[in-house]
Amino acid sequence: MSLVERALKKIQESRQGTPAHAAPVQPAAGSASNTIPLQSARAAVAQPQGPVSNAAPRVSAVPSPEPVRPSRVIHIDRDALRHAELLPPASQERQLAGEYRQIKRPLIANALGRGVEKLPNGHRIMIASAMPGDGKTFTSINLSLSFAQEKDLSVVLVDADVAKAHLSRTFGVHNEPGLMDLLRDEQLDVDSLILATDVPGLSILPAGKSTDNATELLASARMEQIANQISVRHPNRIALFDSPPLLITSEAMALSASVGQIVLVVRAGVTPQSAVLDAIELLGEGKSVGLVLNQTDEQVRPGYYYQYYGHKDGERTAEAGEGDDGALRRSVGDG
Ligand SMILES: Nc1ncnc2c1ncn2[C@@H]1O[C@H](COP(=O)(O)OP(=O)(O)O)[C@@H](O)[C@H]1O
Ligand SMILES: [Mg+2]
Repeated sequence: MSLVERALKKIQESRQGTPAHAAPVQPAAGSASNTIPLQSARAAVAQPQGPVSNAAPRVSAVPSPEPVRPSRVIHIDRDALRHAELLPPASQERQLAGEYRQIKRPLIANALGRGVEKLPNGHRIMIASAMPGDGKTFTSINLSLSFAQEKDLSVVLVDADVAKAHLSRTFGVHNEPGLMDLLRDEQLDVDSLILATDVPGLSILPAGKSTDNATELLASARMEQIANQISVRHPNRIALFDSPPLLITSEAMALSASVGQIVLVVRAGVTPQSAVLDAIELLGEGKSVGLVLNQTDEQVRPGYYYQYYGHKDGERTAEAGEGDDGALRRSVGDG
């Protein structure tokens, strides 16, 4: 039994009434035999996490074009990203894209209320992890590129790891004003600091000028206002927050209050089980949290997505999806 699986079993046991939600899905041919959970895209649609909405189908508004600052369009240099090991090598791109496609489906379903009840603030998604080096920035970049491929969605990649500003440095925007400046200055317009990129549908909000009181700023009412403004003119815009590690910073917890979904990245064979459990405990109940097991099988690939849900209004929001032996199932997308 894998580290994450054991962790999840423990969570299930300790949280009676907060059951896991993962549909039994078939392992892909050629996949290793260790059982690791994943909620597939199909399962996410077939087994919504909340009560199915009876409301009339929502008509997706076509997002307004991203505000483009005429002077600055960020070039997304895939070769440079590959070189920095923030994109997979070309040989593994297709497989990885397939896996991110599976990871994003339930996130989109929850954000837009497609086949499931729309989650409050579900379009604000935090990429979190217990420790540094688990793969938050890698996941943020790859997931945002996957989101950007959606025809009726746009995505703003927000560098909320303000101390490290890894994303901002990677895209060469670490000297640009960004999130921290917005938090400090209520007069600043959010859209005016969001930078367009040459990838259609993808834009970036840099970390901005760092400050000592980042935690307080991220926990402030202004943060909620900023998160709101990111999507107020763009109903089909997803905000993806790359964040600092949960267990060694206070900023990450502060940020978690402003998002509706959390993707918890777990580095296979590295992140200690106790750290995963501590991070989950810290996040508390009532949030939608999905686990991504990253860097599995010593290959460049994340995999295996699993979601559990906290209580919402005192009700169960999900049921466990189990195999014959009660084990959660693994699946690997092949694109
Ligand atoms: N799935 C992956 N495949 C290959 N390398 C990865 C993967 N995920 C992370 N890495 C590498 O691991 C290191 C840490 O990842 P990073 O995303 O920067 O972690 P974090 O943001 O959580 O601190 C980076 O050098 C990155 O290149
Ligand atoms: Mg990072």
